Amino acid sequence: MIEVQQITKRYGHHTAIDRVSFSVAKGEVLAFLGPNGAGKTTTMRILTCFMPATEGKALVAGFDCADQPLEVKRRIGYLPETPPVYLELTVTEYLQFVGRLRGLSGKILTMSMQREIERLGLGTVQHRLIGNLSRGYRQRVGLAQALLHDPQILILDEPTVGLDPKQIIEIRELIKNLAGSHSVILSTHILPEATAVCQRVVIISSGRIVAEDTPEQLSARLRQSEKISLTLKSPAPDTGQLLKSVQGVQNVFTSDAPGTFLLECELGRDAREEVARLAVTKGWGLVELKAISMTLEDVFLRLTRTEEGRPQDTVVATTEPAGRPA
Ligand SMILES: Nc1ncnc2c1ncn2[C@@H]1O[C@H](COP(=O)(O)OP(=O)(O)OP(=O)(O)O)[C@@H](O)[C@H]1O
Ligand SMILES: [Mg+2]
Repeated sequence: MIEVQQITKRYGHHTAIDRVSFSVAKGEVLAFLGPNGAGKTTTMRILTCFMPATEGKALVAGFDCADQPLEVKRRIGYLPETPPVYLELTVTEYLQFVGRLRGLSGKILTMSMQREIERLGLGTVQHRLIGNLSRGYRQRVGLAQALLHDPQILILDEPTVGLDPKQIIEIRELIKNLAGSHSVILSTHILPEATAVCQRVVIISSGRIVAEDTPEQLSARLRQSEKISLTLKSPAPDTGQLLKSVQGVQNVFTSDAPGTFLLECELGRDAREEVARLAVTKGWGLVELKAISMTLEDVFLRLTRTEEGRPQDTVVATTEPAGRPA
C-alpha cells in the first residue's frame, strides 16, 4: 500500500533523512519511532505530498507522490504535528468545510460528520469555536478531519500528543480497530504506544532507519546475551571465578551492591538452575537470582543513542547495575 524507496531529504546542507526505505501492507499499522529531530515528520510530509523528496521514490496505493499528488491525497487522511484547524470556525463548521474539500456533500457529509463527532467524543463541543477549545480537543478535531472521508490510508503524526489518559486509550483502540481495513503509519516517541497498537516498528535515528521489526522480535533480536543477576549473603573470594566456570556463563561482573553479581550468558541458555545449585552447594547464602531481560526501552535507547551522530554498535542493557569484571 505504501512503498518508500531510498528517499533522502536535504534542507540546504542538512540531511534530514538519508536513504530511507520501508513498506506498509494493506491493513497494517506501522509505528515510526524515533527521538526528536529523527526525521519522522519529514518522512510523513513527503508521503502526504506536502513536499517532495530530494532523492528517491515514494508510492502510495500505486501512485507516485511526486507525479500524482492528487491521487495520493485522495486516498490519505493526514494528521500533521500541529492540527490544521481554523480557530475562528466552530467544530461543525470546520468539519463541514473539510468534508466539502474532500468532495462530500448532502446526507453523506452529515453522516460522516456525525460518525466522527461521536467516535472522537466531540458532541459536547461541536458548536464551540475551535479557538476556545483545549489542546486535547483540538487534537481530536484534527483526528476527526483525518478520518472524515474514510480514507484507506492514515498518516498520523503523534496522534496522542496532548490527550488525557482516557482519550489516549480510546485513540489507541480506534487505531487498532482501523487495522485490517486501513493502512496506518503513526509516529511516536512513546514505546508503549508502538507496542500497544502496531504490528511493526521502524526505528529512525538521525535520519536513518536503524531497525525494523515486530516489537517482540526487535527486543529478542537485539538481546545478544541473556543476563542474570545474583545476590549472595556470604560470597567467597573465589565465587566470581567459580561462577564463570558454569556452563553457558560468559562473563561475571560484580556490582556496587554488596554480594551482587551480574552474569552474562550465551544466548538461549538459561544458567539459573546450575548457578543456584552451585550457590547452595558452596553455602554462599542465596538471596536472589533473576534473569534480566532487555525491554523495548533498552533496545530503543541502545539503537538511538548516538556517538557523533552514529548509533552505537554494542548492546548495553540500561537495567544492569554499573559493574566491573569480577
Ligand atoms: N523546514 C526545515 N528547514 C530546515 N531543517 C528542517 C526543516 N524541517 C525539519 N528540519 C530538520 O530536519 C530534521 C528532521 O526533522 P523532523 O521534524 O522530521 O523530525 P521528527 O522526527 O519529526 O522530530 P520530533 O520528534 O521532534 O517531531 C531535524 O534536524 C530538523 O531540524
Ligand atoms: Mg515530528
